[in-house]
Amino acid sequence: MRLYRSVIIGSGGYLPEKVVTNEELASSVNTSDEWIVARTGIRRRHIAAENETTSDLGRLAALDALSDAGVEASSIDLIVLATTTPDSTFPATAARVQAQLGMTKGAAFDIQAVCSGFIYALGIADNFIKLGQAGKVLVIGAETYSRILDWTDRSTCVLFGDGAGAVVLSAEPTNGESSERGVLSTHLHSDGRFYDLLYVDGGVSSTQTTGHLRMKGPEVFRHAVTKLAEVVWEALKANDLTIDDIDWLVPHQANKRIIDGTAKKLDLPADRIILTVEDHANTSAASIPLALAQGSKDGRIKPGQIVLCEAIGGGLSWGAAIIRW
Ligand code: ACO
Repeated sequence: MRLYRSVIIGSGGYLPEKVVTNEELASSVNTSDEWIVARTGIRRRHIAAENETTSDLGRLAALDALSDAGVEASSIDLIVLATTTPDSTFPATAARVQAQLGMTKGAAFDIQAVCSGFIYALGIADNFIKLGQAGKVLVIGAETYSRILDWTDRSTCVLFGDGAGAVVLSAEPTNGESSERGVLSTHLHSDGRFYDLLYVDGGVSSTQTTGHLRMKGPEVFRHAVTKLAEVVWEALKANDLTIDDIDWLVPHQANKRIIDGTAKKLDLPADRIILTVEDHANTSAASIPLALAQGSKDGRIKPGQIVLCEAIGGGLSWGAAIIRW
């Protein structure tokens, strides 16, 4: 039996044109730039135009990643798209992106793991490749959280933004050596007992409305730092690595205080962390692929380096991935 590994051959992102600063938000919500920066590190966020949907953002991120990889959409045989804010209840937003890219073969589906969505999607895509079921895969995280925010709730509406990121995975033969490029491992967890710490108070089968995001912020914060550090240690152990082997931490960009708290627990210096939260806010499933694209395109993340990604979100769901870039 032939064995494969999933090599990231391209990454890309898309952010809507409209930028809303903290000062601008403070003109309609009872908040301030000082409060938001001190509690979260966020200074601005991108907001989708009225006619822009999650599939539009996802398609543009996918095109950027395909161009970075130097491959045509026609060579892709699977799209796994992570989103909590799909265009429609069905069909999958991935199917719409597939059609918009002009693809007529392969499979396309959505997965829903909220802010951990990209790690889940990467894990699923990696398993398809390892089993020889796909040769080239687009993994996309795309969100329009602005559509599910309660813009009168200052404790949540200041935290999120819209955007999309994508990577192209290519199946390459492997000898099982850890020095080879590719996804080394993914580690996924969820614990539904914490369902109501972070949720949307609407839905198809409950209220038949879209609903708004609700969150017990301080409790999410406490779970985040502990669970993220634990899943990172699990991922390092699985690969016989220590934190010193990690060239870049590319965390889910929820909040700079969560990122700093986790890095402190892990004993990881700040100059090895890719940060976008200041400019993007929390783009949920899109935040990691957007940060990967930024770090790769500006030359910080180099081929052969070890990249650690981690995320936590509603569910609770959380996970980590280690990639040799
Ligand atoms: N502007 C001004 N004041 C505010 C704002 C705001 N935007 N939001 C809340 N406050 C006030 C509250 O009303 C409260 O006032 P009070 O003391 O008079 O009652 C005060 O600030 C403190 O509120 P807390 O909720 O205790 O503030 P906290 O220090 O916990 O910070 C925050 C809130 C930033 C949400 C924090 O809990 C947090 O970072 N939690 C993590 C949640 C997160 O990032 N979730 C994202 C989704 S999950 C994920 O992606 C990991």
